[in-house]
Amino acid sequence: MRQILVAGNWKMNLLGTAGTALTDGLSAKYPTSSVEILVCPPAPYLASVHAKVSGSAVRVGGQNLYFAPQGAFTGEVSGDMLRDVGCSSVLVGHSERRQCFGETDELLAKKVAAALQHGLQVVLCVGELLAERQSDQTEAVLKKQLTGLSQVTAEQMANVVIAYEPVWAIGTGVTASTEQAQQAHAFLRGELKTLYGEQVAVATRILYGGSVKADNALELLSQPDVDGALVGGASLKADSFIAIIEAGIQAMSRRA
Ligand code: PGA
Repeated sequence: MRQILVAGNWKMNLLGTAGTALTDGLSAKYPTSSVEILVCPPAPYLASVHAKVSGSAVRVGGQNLYFAPQGAFTGEVSGDMLRDVGCSSVLVGHSERRQCFGETDELLAKKVAAALQHGLQVVLCVGELLAERQSDQTEAVLKKQLTGLSQVTAEQMANVVIAYEPVWAIGTGVTASTEQAQQAHAFLRGELKTLYGEQVAVATRILYGGSVKADNALELLSQPDVDGALVGGASLKADSFIAIIEAGIQAMSRRA
């Protein structure tokens, strides 16, 4: 049975005190949890957030990394560094990285490989633009974006999570319908089966992201191929993030 993962992507939000206040609340509420809980703060706060959540069920992840282990790459952060400040996960290929910073599937494949080498769990984000959905290219786009896995072995897939985030649903308040989400997730699982076989396809978690809120989380998380949520805006407030985690716990108990 796949364990539900609820991840909060803070993006470039929350200064130090606001972030630690949020994580204080989370770690107090979840000393243990039946779902995996992850928060991804901005890089300068990874260590302080990690210090706040250690001993609880809340894990910390980076929002990005560079593939080289060290060196003259001004402004970048390595997988080693993420590990060093307490991260156990990292987001790779978020649509904002793809769109604002021009990250390609080729670059992302190197980042995925580097993150796995450093023992980080990778959350590889994929998702189509509105124009791509409207011109019926969703599946072709998702298939291409899975080339981010081109250097990943079947064994390493145990440490990979896919996040389906239709770009038109990110930060817009428009959520994919449960049917649209389930359909894309089932397609992705089918592709994983082609790439890695049945066992890996069945074991790999596929999260949904894009305007996940307290009031739509349970329905989304109840879909058979939706194994969690990657939450942006609603992860910035304890109340709304906790409500989504609670929806995850409820969906998890139905899976058991
Ligand atoms: P959103 O962002 O929940 O604010 O739509 C999701 C994401 O970008 O991961």
